[in-house]
Amino acid sequence: METGFARGRLLIKDIGHLVGFGHAPLGPMKGADMRQLPVLEDAWLAIEEGRVIDGGAMAEFPGITDWNGLEVVEASGRMVSPAWVDSHTHLVHAASREREFVDRIRGLSYQEIAARGGGILNSARALREMSEDALFDVSLERMERLIRMGTGAIEIKSGYGLDLESELKMLRVARRLGALDRIPVKTTFLGCHAVPQGWSDAMAYTRYMVDEVLPAVVEEELADHVDIFCEEGYFGLEETRLLLEQARLRGLPAKVHVNQFTAGGGVALCVDMGAMSVDHLEVLEAQDVAELASSETVPVALPLCSLFLDLPYTPGRTLVDAGCALAIATDFNPGSAPSGNLHLAASLGCLRMGLEPVEALVAATVNGAAALGLSDQVGGLAVGQEASLIVTRPLRSVDEALYAFGDPLADRVLARGHWVS
Ligand code: NIG
Ligand code: FE
Repeated sequence: METGFARGRLLIKDIGHLVGFGHAPLGPMKGADMRQLPVLEDAWLAIEEGRVIDGGAMAEFPGITDWNGLEVVEASGRMVSPAWVDSHTHLVHAASREREFVDRIRGLSYQEIAARGGGILNSARALREMSEDALFDVSLERMERLIRMGTGAIEIKSGYGLDLESELKMLRVARRLGALDRIPVKTTFLGCHAVPQGWSDAMAYTRYMVDEVLPAVVEEELADHVDIFCEEGYFGLEETRLLLEQARLRGLPAKVHVNQFTAGGGVALCVDMGAMSVDHLEVLEAQDVAELASSETVPVALPLCSLFLDLPYTPGRTLVDAGCALAIATDFNPGSAPSGNLHLAASLGCLRMGLEPVEALVAATVNGAAALGLSDQVGGLAVGQEASLIVTRPLRSVDEALYAFGDPLADRVLARGHWVS
């Protein structure tokens, strides 16, 4: 887990490229501003008690006056970049689903696998059988793996419980992960992820979620947001409106799975209802782009899901050119994106969505924080923000960090002022 000391006072010197430093948080960064990410060459950064306290160019380095309890790290030209902010994950789940992976290689589609009782319902079966403590243990192992890869904040959804008891179990596990204080963890109630067997229709199940599960989630303060899989064959506009209205009345903003396979007016509905984010957007119409551009709703692209399911990629270039604050997240889940590698997701933003490296980096840090309402805390390395960062292997530029797609990036990772192995 933790190595080294730090957490007290830390000075990182001779940084080749210091990314995201400033005197005020950056986010959200919209449209053309996404290219304005501050990058300081030959720089230093000072940290105290897990927060950034100062920084600047080596040419103006004031020198060290107080050596008391100070750890000095020579970055020797390495890049120092804010930790990734993963604004969309299903990290709490019982087990992987590699059988379905093989089924897909043999020719079945994601929808065909779901129709045979695979997919989300398969994960729900496994989760219901697992104890809360066992679920916590497997989820903690995953979270630690993400932190080692340089992820400095995550969102975690429920949605594999699909009944009162199991949805609460998932959210309690997510809250327990947050209570460890390793990194900020935001939780999202996604009871309307799929309609389990035994329900006559999506509306009847949504009413159960609204009337019985949502109040319990709110009562126990288990969720920061609400989500629903707004998609043909899952939940429609009526169910989405009902859930979002009821959640809003109880103080929960929305982050919605929408337009993964089809465009059916879900984006406009979510924007109208003031959703914090709309996620997936593999299929997007011009009208949706215009709606998003004139709103504060953050569009979240999930390119690892597109890669894994061989879906179209979210039109990132179009969204940025329209002026949106595009975010990129992993969607880490056992069915459609079994990877928490946000570095790879950001590189796919370049390779498949037409983003320049600096824009993809912003999408996976600054704008990921905006999609979680955490802009003040994470996503950049401004004074006062959390000292969660990646000291990369030697790189010549920010561009190289995303060009070398999938290659391990981090030499060292600092999470809230603690070195992680
Ligand atoms: O974001 N689209 C809906 N939910 C997940 C997939 C969940 C699963 O297959 O287990 C997603 O892709
Ligand atoms: Fe998802």
